[in-house]
Amino acid sequence: MKIPAFVLYFPFMRVILFSGKGGVGKTTISAATAYRLSSLGYKTIVVSLDPAHSLGDAFDIPEEEKIKAKGLPIKISDKLYIQEIDIQEEVDRYWGDVYRFLELLFNTTGLDQVVSEELAILPGMEEVTSLLYVNKYYKEGEFDALILDLPPTGESLRFVSMPTVLKWYMRKIFNVERNILKIARPVARRITDVPLPDDEYFKALENFYEKLKGVDELLIDPEITSVRIVANPEKMVLKESQRAFLYFNLFGVNVDAVIVNKVLPSSVENCEHFSKWLITQRRYIEDINALFYPVPVFTVPLMEDEVVGYERLEILSHLIYGDTDPIKVLYKEKPYEFLQENGDYIIKLKAPFLTKEGLSVLKSEGEIIIRWKNFKSHVLLPRKLRDYEPKGAKIDNGYLKVFLSKS
Ligand SMILES: Nc1ncnc2c1ncn2[C@@H]1O[C@H](COP(=O)(O)OP(=O)(O)O)[C@@H](O)[C@H]1O
Ligand SMILES: [Mg+2]
Repeated sequence: MKIPAFVLYFPFMRVILFSGKGGVGKTTISAATAYRLSSLGYKTIVVSLDPAHSLGDAFDIPEEEKIKAKGLPIKISDKLYIQEIDIQEEVDRYWGDVYRFLELLFNTTGLDQVVSEELAILPGMEEVTSLLYVNKYYKEGEFDALILDLPPTGESLRFVSMPTVLKWYMRKIFNVERNILKIARPVARRITDVPLPDDEYFKALENFYEKLKGVDELLIDPEITSVRIVANPEKMVLKESQRAFLYFNLFGVNVDAVIVNKVLPSSVENCEHFSKWLITQRRYIEDINALFYPVPVFTVPLMEDEVVGYERLEILSHLIYGDTDPIKVLYKEKPYEFLQENGDYIIKLKAPFLTKEGLSVLKSEGEIIIRWKNFKSHVLLPRKLRDYEPKGAKIDNGYLKVFLSKS
């Protein structure tokens, strides 16, 4: 039997997440990546969590077909499927009892309607749903690659933190509350109106949790999961992406590329209208290299028109990846780590080329900025370390260690 080459290299499903601010091109780049993977022979599914639902549009799928799919996968070819998650459908499909219970609980405990409805979808329904799918597709092993088009950055962060949050939530419900309820039910029935979950709800929850089990390990395995941050060369976009980068790092989810999309072509250099833009963009691209060091940065030009249909997706995919196979892990090491030492913290950053001469480390606007010759790297401080100041630095075995103490 002839085994295709990729099976030898990728014995499991790759999960590639695209994250970034709204409008930067996440959906388009997810679609282009998936399209390229499928033409390389990988059986690929691209799932969109973006409520704007433009994945189908990128592939030029008629509206009726999208509606008919009801949030389930649509087949584009033998090797390519797309899926636009429909949260309401998902709630009906998987979450019905749990959702109703939470709603009831919050209603009767005196929270007002609006708040209780918000809370009923507390553990980020969108995130949980996509985690469910990541797990499902991974376990089924039908696909070689799952591309996930995440909602705009804020929610992407909820996505990576979700397994941790859920674990906490489930532990609380199962180990603590369930036991308490067993004892308290007869008493509670008499003294309170709060509806107590019956075994059916617990069963539903348990079942649900079972389906999610192990997904956190998939997310933090750099061989399996990669995040690709999509950005545009603009100030507002960068701040948000940098924060996302920090959180992905803190949660141990591997960011293997930064894709700077909609870069003006140098042919506008002599155009009066755009030439200033070009200069601004070039400055931001330089910043991007520093902000996301040492993760590779790919630049993608603004095309002459919006990117709709297979032909343009194919062209775009070559502009993004060149000859590189997008299924590859494009970068794997932790960009930086925060280590704790006697109440102080150390930033450990890989920088094998650094020497002491000309090295400067300073803090500015919540970031630690490291400069050496032409090299520049920014490390955003987590909230907890906001009041910390750099007190010294050391080069150690190819790593730069920056010592932080409270000011
Ligand atoms: N490189 C590009 N060149 C031209 N148009 C682009 C490019 N990337 C994205 N677009 C267009 O920009 C718009 C927003 O892109 P989209 O992928 O929907 O962003 P997001 O999913 O991040 O909100 C779409 O109309 C898309 O066709
Ligand atoms: Mg989108």
